[in-house]
Amino acid sequence: MPAQRRLRLNAFTMNVVSHIVQGQWTREDTRQREYTKLDPWVELAQLLERGKFDAVFFADVVGAYDVYQGSRDASVRNAVQFPVNDPSALVPVLAHVTEHLGLAFTLSILQEHPFSFARRASTLDHYSDGRVAWNIVTSYLENAARNLGYGDLPLHDTRYDRGDEYLEVLYKLWEGSWEDDAVVADRERGIYADPAKVHEIGHVGEYYDVVGPHLSEPSPQRTPVLFQAGSSERGREFAARHAEATFIVAQNIRGARANVDDLRARLVRHGRHPDDLLVFQGLTVITAATEAEALAKEREVQEQLSEEGTFAVVSGWLGADLGAYDPDTPIGDLRTNSQEGIIKGLAEAAPDHTWRFGDLVKRIANTRIVGTPEQVADELQAWHEEGGIDGVNLTYTTTPGSFVDFIDGVVPVLQERGIVQREYREGTLREKLFDGQVGPRLSPRHPGAAYRRGVPAGVRS
Ligand SMILES: Cc1cc2nc3c(=O)[nH]c(=O)nc-3n(C[C@H](O)[C@H](O)[C@H](O)COP(=O)(O)O)c2cc1C
Repeated sequence: MPAQRRLRLNAFTMNVVSHIVQGQWTREDTRQREYTKLDPWVELAQLLERGKFDAVFFADVVGAYDVYQGSRDASVRNAVQFPVNDPSALVPVLAHVTEHLGLAFTLSILQEHPFSFARRASTLDHYSDGRVAWNIVTSYLENAARNLGYGDLPLHDTRYDRGDEYLEVLYKLWEGSWEDDAVVADRERGIYADPAKVHEIGHVGEYYDVVGPHLSEPSPQRTPVLFQAGSSERGREFAARHAEATFIVAQNIRGARANVDDLRARLVRHGRHPDDLLVFQGLTVITAATEAEALAKEREVQEQLSEEGTFAVVSGWLGADLGAYDPDTPIGDLRTNSQEGIIKGLAEAAPDHTWRFGDLVKRIANTRIVGTPEQVADELQAWHEEGGIDGVNLTYTTTPGSFVDFIDGVVPVLQERGIVQREYREGTLREKLFDGQVGPRLSPRHPGAAYRRGVPAGVRS
């Protein structure tokens, strides 16, 4: 399989009862209600490894969805991403019971000071032997900002400005604070680390002042694999600068192509190679041995779908109360301080189409592929080849059922077609995801690499 051309597979989940497809938690055949126990997560991770998935990808939020009807009641009733437990706590557990699976977790730059977050990520990278990815998000919930002492949610682009500085602090700590040969662990001389090779970072900025040094010694990847999710103009600039992988939710293949091409062009403008960024599309797959069975499964999902829960989650994403709009009203140029990228994605999917408020509820949480394993494989192949995506973030309707169906049905077909991997590559998550084209550390073209110290020129990858 040529480098960069395989389709990567992530399982998209969250440490909650109800993630994307609302209402399914009430079903008999799902373990969503057991999210507070470790067993279902262990079972899921081992299943994903059997299916040669690249990673399990945890979303996260740090606030309640209280936009719909101006209240959090609908989301509390329907368990819409609330209650929500910390995803990073699962990482060491899942690292311990798997060998290759990537462990990607979300943490908002509003949530934790970069100094303490740097140590958290390094610790997780150590315990997973370099299999950690961090999904950098900037938050979109007002309630999150109020919980964290910001008052109102900072403005959309200002959140990304803060994110730029947050990353600068992290690069200084992860890449620049400890030289590669700082740890000598010399028992004879009683020297663990050479003080001359452990540096303060002396960061003084608009949002953060950090002296350093970094508290953790260098972990296998130093900087975890950097995912990003956010598709607005400013979000794409942020991705082109910092991300090694980005998570998009295009509405169709055309929209994906436009988004991917736009991102690759931006990468070049930032002095990076177009292939330095892997683009993952979010998709829900419902599959069964026959088309009729798959359609019957979809009907079951529809019957269980909570309309109220869906209104609550999509209103939160948009920062606009969808209950207050007539579904037939054109969206026009709805402005939001939450996720601008959603509106941009609609225009890219069908530039001449008049999108209406009703479409938001019907479509946004539901980019679905329904069919036999062969039909699903055909569709995924089209997203991959025509849409230009590098991977899929697979959303579930039931867990682990959706992943079992995919792994037993679709993965063998994709493997037969040479589109997904049959075996894992050795090494860190970064080496696995980039098929060995990049070393364990950030590519030398990545801006974070510029903060390295004490590394001879030419051996900077
Ligand atoms: C596919 C996707 C997944 C996201 N996942 C999260 C998440 O788990 N937690 C979070 O706080 N924000 C998440 N976000 C929000 C983004 O980080 C960002 O704050 C928001 O989308 C606003 O940026 P944008 O207008 O550039 O899209 C996600 C966004 C997208 C598009």
